[in-house]
Amino acid sequence: MVITLLVSALLVAAAALTVLVFGLYNVAGNRQHFQPVHSMLEYAMQQSVRARARDIAVPDVASDGKVERGALCYQQKCVQCHGGPGVAASDFGQSMQPIPGP
Ligand code: HEC
Repeated sequence: MVITLLVSALLVAAAALTVLVFGLYNVAGNRQHFQPVHSMLEYAMQQSVRARARDIAVPDVASDGKVERGALCYQQKCVQCHGGPGVAASDFGQSMQPIPGP
């Protein structure tokens, strides 16, 4: 049983190494990831942010016009790709791979 698990783990590791070393997985920005890879990367991103954001105190954003300044910044720098409330992303933004989330 233990030998079978060890051999299986070695085979999986060898397969992963083969894919890595021979560049078999296409990482081009104009191709979508396979769903399992996309899900794994999404999960890794969420866990990474969660781990690093744990000790950050939530700033007081409701004062000093910060919300308005943030909305203006978003409108000027982000909305063309991500869209916004009542605003679709531009053709340019919608043509990107991976697609920028809302
Ligand atoms: C030129 C287009 C473009 C602009 C402009 C842009 N983004 Fe993005 N953004 C992207 C793309 C492409 C991704 C990657 C999407 C992915 O990996 O699934 C992304 C990802 C993100 C993500 C991660 C979302 C997630 O769940 O993976 C955040 C957060 C983000 N952008 C915020 C911003 C902010 C804030 C601005 C403005 C300051 C901005 N973006 C401007 C194209 C853009």
